[in-house]
Amino acid sequence: MSVIKVAILGFGTVGEGVYKTIHSHAQELEGVLGSKVEVAAVLIRNKQKKRNIDEDVLITSDFNEILSLPQLDVVVEAIVDKEPTFTFLKQAIRRGSHIITANKEMFAHHGNELLELAESHKVSVGFEATVAGGIPVIQTLRQLLNVNRVGTVQGILNGTSNFILTEMREKKQSFAAALRLAQEKGYAEADPTNDVEGFDAFYKTMILSRIAFGKEPNWQNVEREGITSITRELIETAEKLGLRFKHIASISKIGSQINAAVKPTLVGKSHPFYGVEGVENAVNVHSDIVGRITLQGPGAGMFPTASAVIEDLVYVCQNQLSNKNFTNITEACDGEKKGNEKELWLIQGLSKNDNNPLITWVAQATDETAIIQASREEIEKLINQQKATCYFQIIGEYEKEIKNKEVTLAVL
Ligand code: NDP
Ligand code: HSE
Repeated sequence: MSVIKVAILGFGTVGEGVYKTIHSHAQELEGVLGSKVEVAAVLIRNKQKKRNIDEDVLITSDFNEILSLPQLDVVVEAIVDKEPTFTFLKQAIRRGSHIITANKEMFAHHGNELLELAESHKVSVGFEATVAGGIPVIQTLRQLLNVNRVGTVQGILNGTSNFILTEMREKKQSFAAALRLAQEKGYAEADPTNDVEGFDAFYKTMILSRIAFGKEPNWQNVEREGITSITRELIETAEKLGLRFKHIASISKIGSQINAAVKPTLVGKSHPFYGVEGVENAVNVHSDIVGRITLQGPGAGMFPTASAVIEDLVYVCQNQLSNKNFTNITEACDGEKKGNEKELWLIQGLSKNDNNPLITWVAQATDETAIIQASREEIEKLINQQKATCYFQIIGEYEKEIKNKEVTLAVL
């Protein structure tokens, strides 16, 4: 029987998860592929660290040793940073190996080049693990895009941020303690600034945008904000109002323009993201035939990510992943227009006595915090006038929840 030889770059949370899963699911892989899958080599940085790896596997910190292997069918990449990763993967493709990556930062920057190179070398690129951990969102979107035209995609794309927000609300943990726990569980990036300042979700958003719309917005025009401004007090105030903070990425296409933002947002009980808790991620897609669908599942961690990689392993070995899908989408339906219509916001630092003509009061939540109705332009004016200190958009059907008295507002 033929054997498929795999090299795993990185043996941290993801790399080790992939290694263990190739062993634990050897039978299933052999059943689907008709060949045994064997790990031939593992690339690491620190050769002194003790690792639970079989003796016949090459363990090296020199990628050239991996490139020189007599047989190398698939290279799975789970290391960090854009370089030397990008260089390694180009070398692997040129050598004729399929590649699979979990590294969203590298892929957001260099995905197109890798896909083009793979196309010219007739190999496949798997990148399911770059977005939303174990949720098969890339493959699902690719299927949808055959005929459906996508208008809007919204997602909770960073497991660490969602985990921290949940811990702060449910267990009254401090931000620092919740982040430490996320790191211990293997959810956080090597530099967790990437998680809590929204960079990780931003890279995932750019990859999703290319899948959904065939292109991405100008990176400079994307609002990116992390969760570091969300205090426990804010979370408690929101909870009393029937609202929860979620770190949400949204992408929509209006005409030929793609708009995207990644920021903390408030959702009410009827929003599909309200119950997405802990390390879970979710992606909500609105497209013209199917309407709205929500995918939800574990967004980070050893085995959820290994699941995405292993499923990619099957696709690349069957050479089923088209490298073209990433760039060739021409049509999309229009997303929801967000121009000057009034939306709901939770806002801090504004007093009702100001009688500000820019806003409509909905409720005073505390002395400091209120829910108002205003357009984006009006909110920006308030901030420029330094009338408000911080503001968060409320999305979903919260107005209906107020009308139906599903939430109790302090003072109307
Ligand atoms: P870890 O920090 O746990 O592990 C990184 C591994 O890569 C380590 O084994 C390290 O070696 C090795 N490594 C780092 N740089 C190099 C290098 N230059 N050359 C050789 N080896 C190197 O990271 P994760 O496993 O958490 O993440 C890996 C990748 O997967 C990242 O890009 C991350 O964004 C992505 N990812 C992570 C998820 C998660 O839940 N953690 C989920 C989805 C994607 P050594 O052991 O010697 O230090
Ligand atoms: N640090 C990332 C997260 C890992 O927390 O979502 C999964 O991409």
